[in-house]
Amino acid sequence: MKLWGGRFEAGPSEVFERFSGSLAFDRRLIDADIEGSQAFARALERVGILTAEERARIVEAFDQMRADAASPAFFEGASDEDVHTLVIRKLKERVGAVADKIHTGRSRNEQVSLDTRMWVREEAERVRALLCGVMGALLDLAVRYSGAVIPGYTHLRRAQAVLWPHYLLAYFEMLARDWERFGEAQRRAGVLPLGAGALAGSGFPFDREAMARDLGFPALTRNSMDVSGDRDFALDFLYAATVAMIHLSRLAEDWILYSSEEFGWLELGDAVTSGSSLMPQKKNPDALELIRGKSGRVMGCLTALLVTMKGLPMTYNRDMQEDKVPLFEAADQLAGSLEMMREVIQSARLNPAKPAAAAEESWVVATDLAEALARAGTPFHEAHRIVGRFVLESVRRGKRPSDWTAEEMAGFAPEFTADFAALLNPEAGMASREIPGGTGPHTVAAALAAARERLGEMSK
Ligand code: ARG
Repeated sequence: MKLWGGRFEAGPSEVFERFSGSLAFDRRLIDADIEGSQAFARALERVGILTAEERARIVEAFDQMRADAASPAFFEGASDEDVHTLVIRKLKERVGAVADKIHTGRSRNEQVSLDTRMWVREEAERVRALLCGVMGALLDLAVRYSGAVIPGYTHLRRAQAVLWPHYLLAYFEMLARDWERFGEAQRRAGVLPLGAGALAGSGFPFDREAMARDLGFPALTRNSMDVSGDRDFALDFLYAATVAMIHLSRLAEDWILYSSEEFGWLELGDAVTSGSSLMPQKKNPDALELIRGKSGRVMGCLTALLVTMKGLPMTYNRDMQEDKVPLFEAADQLAGSLEMMREVIQSARLNPAKPAAAAEESWVVATDLAEALARAGTPFHEAHRIVGRFVLESVRRGKRPSDWTAEEMAGFAPEFTADFAALLNPEAGMASREIPGGTGPHTVAAALAAARERLGEMSK
């Protein structure tokens, strides 16, 4: 079926129909399309286009249709141009001629905006729940090894010692921002476009506030031309998805390294790793590699829609139909990655001795020494120079921090008084970082408890 045709003398070619049809992918919007159409039928009754009896028949037919649409048989043999057309055809099959009134004063341009907004709002909710799952797994893993010490890195070079929970809480923060970002995407999608018509506003005096209440939309769009040409809400979702995937990808990258033989910190569960068809010894971090790989795909989805929208003249253009495949694709890949990441985190076991040794045998304590000198009165630049020379000397002589005695240190530089030897243990330096947001043990314990509480709020 078509929702147009009077103006044409010949029908569309088979190639054009195949090329332009969107049912294959926009069928995912069927629930939203039906629900939106039910609200619209109620609005049509309020403006006197449908009688109460007609509206009741239509709404009821839609209820049935929604139940039927859950089975794939519903779509069998359908060759409609898009999901909106399909829904109207099916309505006609069910209620007959009265269905011809359902599209009064409505355009598919506002309808597709409404459906997609409804879908985004629901999907954002699902993503937020999945994000909470990952954040919860991170907190559990932090608590399991709450006292473990690791070298923190900059430039992938050992920098300063931090607590393992402090490291995991960094990812918690990233995902908490993602959770907020999806809330914002949800809020922006929650603006009702119905009433916009094709681009100029509907010619019927619909009570837009009532339609918004009916569909649970907190706000109304303010300009009909904007509605028709706007896909910002899809871009907001895609941006949020891309940033979340980048966070997952970076965690994946860390753990691919940390679980390698070279690091040996982490053991990933058998259930989330795979073997090699040739090399019997292999246990590969495929789940993490795929998460890292899929981040590229999701970023591609954002880029695809950005490029599609760039340079479109006001208002609606059929190009915009191309928003759905990347939108759905990004959502699916993100949901799958969040689910997978949660399992990987739950499966992970830390071998705390390895990162502790990495911290101890490197010069992660250098900053602690320089800062202690500064606390004792040496200007920091001078302190930095003294410790730099001390490290150079150690490297030359193959000495690790723990190989130095207090006497030898004092012999190297008189500023190194007896109490400095204690700072050769990374734990001592960490204890000096009890600043909000720092890696001091009390601060981290409090941050963990606070994160748990915040997660409780987010999961409500
Ligand atoms: N399938 C179309 C889309 O997804 C629906 C809007 C059609 N509007 C139009 N003027 N052809 O964008």
